[in-house]
Formats: sequence, C-alpha cells, structure tokens
Amino acid sequence: TLVRSLSVTSLNGLPQWEDEDLPVEDLLLFEVAWEVTNKVGGIYTVIQTKAKITADEWGENYFLIGPYFEQNVKTQVEVCEPPNPAIKKAVDTLKGQGCQVFFGRWLIEGSPYVMLFDIGSAAWNLDRWKGEFWDACNIGIPFHDREANDALIFGSLTAWFFKELSSQFDDTPNLIAHFHEWQAGAGLILSRFRKLPVATIFTTHATLLGRYLCAANIDFYNKLDQFDIDREAGDRQIYHRYCMERASVHCAHVFTTVSQITAIEAEHMLKRKADVITPNGLNIKKFSAMHEFQNLHAMYKARIQEFIRGHFYGHLDFNLARTLFFFIAGRYEYSNKGADIFLEALSRLNFLLRVHRSDVTVVVFFIMPAKTNNFNVETLKGQAIRKQLWDTAQSVKEKFGKKLYDALLKGEIPDLNKILDRDDLTIMKRAIFSTQRQSLPPVTTHNMIDDSNDPILNTIRRIGLFNNRTDRVKVILHPEFLSSTSPLLPMDYEDFVRGCHLGVFPSYYEPWGYTPAECTVMGIPSVTTNLSGFGCFVQEHVADPAAYGIYIVDRRFRSPDESCNQLTQFLYGFCQQSRRQRIIQRNRTERLSDLLDWRYLGRYYMHARHLALSRTFPDKFEMEPNAPPKTDGFRYPRPSSVPPSPSASQHSSPHHSEGEDEDEDERYDEEEEAERDRQNIKSPFSLGVLPQGKKKQHGEYRN
Ligand code: UDP
Ligand code: G6P
Ligand code: GLC
Repeated sequence: TLVRSLSVTSLNGLPQWEDEDLPVEDLLLFEVAWEVTNKVGGIYTVIQTKAKITADEWGENYFLIGPYFEQNVKTQVEVCEPPNPAIKKAVDTLKGQGCQVFFGRWLIEGSPYVMLFDIGSAAWNLDRWKGEFWDACNIGIPFHDREANDALIFGSLTAWFFKELSSQFDDTPNLIAHFHEWQAGAGLILSRFRKLPVATIFTTHATLLGRYLCAANIDFYNKLDQFDIDREAGDRQIYHRYCMERASVHCAHVFTTVSQITAIEAEHMLKRKADVITPNGLNIKKFSAMHEFQNLHAMYKARIQEFIRGHFYGHLDFNLARTLFFFIAGRYEYSNKGADIFLEALSRLNFLLRVHRSDVTVVVFFIMPAKTNNFNVETLKGQAIRKQLWDTAQSVKEKFGKKLYDALLKGEIPDLNKILDRDDLTIMKRAIFSTQRQSLPPVTTHNMIDDSNDPILNTIRRIGLFNNRTDRVKVILHPEFLSSTSPLLPMDYEDFVRGCHLGVFPSYYEPWGYTPAECTVMGIPSVTTNLSGFGCFVQEHVADPAAYGIYIVDRRFRSPDESCNQLTQFLYGFCQQSRRQRIIQRNRTERLSDLLDWRYLGRYYMHARHLALSRTFPDKFEMEPNAPPKTDGFRYPRPSSVPPSPSASQHSSPHHSEGEDEDEDERYDEEEEAERDRQNIKSPFSLGVLPQGKKKQHGEYRN
C-alpha cells in the first residue's frame, strides 16, 4: 500500500503532529463551497488559507469545487485540462449535456485544482432538479429565492459529477467530499440519496437560524433550548433554506463546526452533535527578521496617516504622532458584528478622553460594505487638496534648492529672506487658502444609497460623533472592502490592518471570526468577545489574553451596558499606553501566531476525513475510538514580565518611560522576554493532555 507521511515542522512549543497516514494515492479529496474562488466572507478565507497544507498532503488528488463567475476566473484561475482521466471524463459528460464546467489551477499558495460550475448554463434543468430534490428529501424551494435556487443547481451539478466519476471505479480510488455551509449542502444530500460511494463531511460555519435570531436582538444564548425552531424559520421565511441546512447536517457521515460555541448552537438549531470541532487556521508565513512586522506597521501606518492628512484637511489640529487608528471590518451585520456597542463605546471613549484632556486622538475606521453610489466629492477633494499641497511644497522646495545651490557655488550664504520671491509666497498662500472648508470632515467616504436608514450613520447622528475639532474620537465609515486599486485609500486590507493599532470586533454572533485572528498573526492587538469562536478558543489556550493583546469582552454574562463599559475601559486603557508598551504588546500578540497556523490546526480536518472514511468504508478504514486530537488543557502561559494591561496599572511594563519619545524603541530585552516565554511554553504532549505524537502503525488502516 502506498503511504505518504506528513512532515510538519515543529512549531514553537506546540505539539509536533504526526498523523495516521492515509493512503492518499488511493483517495480523491473534494472540497465543495460557494466561496471557492468567490470572496464573500470568512469561508473564502478558510478555503484559501488552508489550500497550501491540504495540497501539500494530497498533491494531485485534491480538488476544490465552486461556482463559476467570469470575473473570478479571469483574475484568479489558470484554466487547464483535468490531468486525471476519470475526472476529465466526468467533466466531459457534464459538458456534453450543455453545462459549462471550468477546470484549472487556482492561483493561490498551494495552487490547488478547482472545478467551477457555471450555474446559469445549467439553469434550464432547474424545474427537473427541484422535482428530484423534492423526491429525495421533500424540500421545496420557492421560485423567488434566487440564492436557494442557485444552491440547488450547484448541488445537483456536484452530485451529478460525483455520480459520473464514481461510476468509473470498481474499488479504488475512494472519494471523500467535504461540503461547507448550506449553499453547498444540496450536493451532499443528493449524493447520499443516490447512495454514491463517497465519504461525506459537512462543516457549518454558522447556522441560518442563529444568525437571524441574533440579528433580531433576541437573547439568543439564554434561550437556546426554548425556540420552536421550525416556526422561527417559517416566520423568517427561511424555512426551505433551514431544511436544506438541517438535511445536509443529518446526511453527512461526519458533521463538524468551526467552534465549540457553534457546536452548541447547532445542537439546538440543527439537532445534531458535532463529531469534530474544526477550528479555523491561517497560513502563517514567518519573516526572516523577527521585527519585520513592526517595520511593516510603521510603514503602513505612514500610508494611513497620508490619507488622514487629506481627509481632515483644514482640521489637522491634532498630533498625528499621538493618533491611534482603530478599525472594525467585515460583512455589514450591524448588531451581529457588534458595530452597535462599538459606536456606543466610542462615544463614551470620546467623553473620557475629553474630560481627561488627553492629547491622544483616535481615528476609527468602519470597513463594512454597503450599497453606495461611489466616493463622495468631499472625500475625493480632501485627497486632491493634500496632493496639491504636496506638489506646492515640492515645487517651492526645488526652486529654493536651486537658488541655494547657485549661491553656494558662488561661495555665498544666500539671504534667506529673499530666497523665496513674491510668486512663491503667492502660490503657498493660495494652497493654504484651498484648505479652508465650510463643512466638517465627512464621516463617510461614499454616497450611501440608503443614507437615511443606514444603522451606522443613524447611530453616529444620534451620538453626535461628527468629527468636530473638539472630538478626540473621529469616525470614518468606508462602506466598501479595501483594495490597493482604490483611488481614495489605495491599500489592501492586510496592509491596512498592519498600519492600524487595534482591531475592534465586539461581535454578538460570530461562529469563528477571522478578523481578530488575522490581526493576531500580523502582530496587531484586537478586541473580540466570549461569544465568538475565536475569543473562546483564545480564552481556552492563553492564560492572560489581554497581555498578549487580545481583549475579550464578556457579552455572555453581562448586560449590554456592562459589556459596553468593559469595552470602553479596554479602549481607554489602550489609549493610555506609551509607544513602548504598544511595541512590547505587538511583539507578544505576534507570538501567538503558531497557535493559529493551519500546520497546527489542520489536524482536525485530517481527523474528520479519517472518521468519514471509517464510517463510509468500515471494512477498509478502521479507526481507533480514542483518536480525536485534543488541545484541551494546553495554555500559553502568562508572559514572564507583567503585561502592559490597559485597564490596570500603566507602569507595569519594564522600563516604562513617561514621555512619548518618537523614536523610543528598544527591543533587545523584549527579544529576551520572547525567548524566555518560548522556553516556558510546555508542549501539550508533555502535559500529557494530547495523544502522544506516535506514528500509527500502518496496519491500523487496512487497505
Ligand atoms: N475582509 C477583506 N477585506 C476587507 C475586510 C475584511 O477581505 O476590507 C475579510 C477578512 O480578511 C476576513 C473576512 O473578510 O477573512 C471576514 O471573515 P470573518 O470570519 O471575520 O467574518 P464573516 O464575514 O465570515 O462572518
Ligand atoms: C514599530 C516600528 C517603530 C515605531 C513603532 C510605532 O515598532 O518598528 O520604529 O516607532 O512601530 O508604534 P506605534 O504604536 O506608535 O504606531
Ligand atoms: C462564517 C462566520 C464567521 C467565520 C467564517 C469562517 O461566515 O460568520 O464567524 O469566521 O464563517 O468559518
């Protein structure tokens, strides 16, 4: 039998993973999701970041299946013929029936194969497929729900493909299909109904009902067991979607959720216990220089500062060197993502900074896509004015420089009062005049289509955070995801995050929540909550999260007002840190990266696959009952020095100095601290809580 070992480099104190080897040469692995090559939210991040380790393990036997969108293929996929003849044959069969299928390599790290189904080209089958779906599971899909109809077409194509593929094999290779979220679920339901020889896994990244009920401001977590779920789904007109989701969960050989908290939710909303928790990881790339991420922070912060210079033209009466950048980002789910309590906390923070006469200014970005009608004029004008001032300064500088040079050549020191002539002064005065403005710096960068009903804008109106000169907290709503091609703020999201000081994600509904995790691996502190999968994961594995720059707001056991106060304290405390404390804290934050690396967390996906195989093909794949990998009990210790805890003493970190010296950054003792802490981290193996990293005897999988 063929065996491929997984070699995983040792990660800072975290356990070495030596998994049972799967005979991957005799298997084909498919991962099916609506967000394959198609960015909507975090599921895209799961698949895109995990591709590298999965491709490393599965090589040519790994395929992603998603929907076809022209623009995505043009920009992300290199189209080619399927190298595997059986797959080619199955694809050709679908194509022969008029369905467009695009096959190629997804141009991301790991460059996995992707197969993309053109939903439109197969839409003429919809009525027939609806009938078949009804026969399979008695779920009817109303014609007006475009998303559900697309999901059915996508699922029917997926199941059809698996049928064509598996019918070519007698015994091996065996197929594993891993489906993500309800939009991909129809493929799973139909594969099971047709008894295809495929080991299936379903991962839920959120439950439909959970999301809806939370968004309706219901006390969700205290009432989990009290909902009449069928009725709730009906009342919200998502009954058919909820049925698709629930059927997928129950049809799967193995059911997984991205966090413990979502497992509990799913048990109540979908009535199945998760078999495995598959926490979300990231593809961590280490810089060769330890402090590279600090340099990047400084570099991208300068870019954000440039934008601020333009946006606040005429109002730049605050010190940019004492200005902190906070942000919230994600799909626009106003209360689920905690934008509501964040705004409230900002209003309180503004008050605190004002009454304490703080010289710190906080600029807060809201990066949440909404319907817009392009950038607004005032915002674009700000950047144009900044550019004009820059150009003016450059041309005056050039003239000045030339005259100075001429004078020096003649051996003279020029008369500095005469070196600029009247014309120079005129253009400089004109430039200054152009920075006068009648209005306040805008709170939004775009023309909002539904300005008067926008929840963020309405709250800003209510609490009066209008970017007045006296406000210490300034707000900018950027209702579009960031992009380096933007004429306004030309930065990719990642670079923007690096340039900020704090990400604030006080979510109420958040099965995992990539945004704070992404901050962590870039060494940027963040706020999360004990209702987010990520927040709970950190609470479980890090002894003093705040010391590591992860502030966890308690939204579970406190009233909204108390949570908001706690958040305000976190923010206010953060504003009181010195630059040096921020630098130390960023170093600590970045040290948690290993915990979030797919090289570590990918094991849960492996485990789910093994389990699915053992349940689907029990006479070929046996599994030890005690196999599930666990990290229970493993914790990052408190950092060896006292944390620069924001809410506690501000003088607790080593060599604290009062004045904020611009260039103050000594690092060497921090590196020592990092090393000390690394030594202190005990591997979960040595704590005896993880199964020993023993290599399974290959015989344990009979093949
Ligand atoms: N994101 C992005 N551009 C932005 C803001 C956010 O690409 O301007 C990404 C972010 O990197 C993250 C994802 O959107 O990976 C959001 O995922 P999360 O799990 O936080 O929330 P979801 O949207 O899935 O609920
Ligand atoms: C990084 C850079 C330092 C810079 C600091 C600013 O650490 O390497 O040179 O002084 O960032 O930190 P701040 O938190 O004030 O943006
Ligand atoms: C969902 C959740 C989010 C999670 C993401 C990836 O969209 O809302 O919390 O991080 O899926 O699992």
